[in-house]
Amino acid sequence: MINSKVEAAINNQINAEFWSAYFYLSMSNYFSSIGLAGFANWMNVQFEEEVFHARRFMTYLNERGGRVILKPIDEVQTSWEGPLNVFEETLSHEEKVTGLINELMDIAIKESDHATKSFLQWFIDEQVEEEAGVSEILDHLRLINGEGQGLFLMDKELKTRVFTPPVV
Ligand code: FEO
Repeated sequence: MINSKVEAAINNQINAEFWSAYFYLSMSNYFSSIGLAGFANWMNVQFEEEVFHARRFMTYLNERGGRVILKPIDEVQTSWEGPLNVFEETLSHEEKVTGLINELMDIAIKESDHATKSFLQWFIDEQVEEEAGVSEILDHLRLINGEGQGLFLMDKELKTRVFTPPVV
């Protein structure tokens, strides 16, 4: 049976993952509204990844005899200044998520929950990739500095992203 402090922290994280999914879905729809279908696709894949993260936490909690409690998802932003602003906010959001995963790991360590520590390691590694991927796009956006042809090429490239459920 899972420790109640770890159980509560995982339930909070499930909510945070669903909020992230909702946040990226909102960004995807924003990009659709300004004619950037490739950027919209990239954000839609991001949405699917977040749902996958939430599902992993739910499956894990159920496996450990915990109880999944789904809480309300707070409202998300619906418009931005442009692609650069979206990706700046994406990076700062992912940095926040990294902090949440680290806090979760701290709780598992404090409660000597070795199974949860092992489970969380995947998320610790995943956050390194999440931040690196977003930083790369942000660097490219800064490089092209809003220039139309550059944005067009990036949009074509981001259209190719597909969601592949990670092997865990
Ligand atoms: Fe679930 Fe983007 O971290």
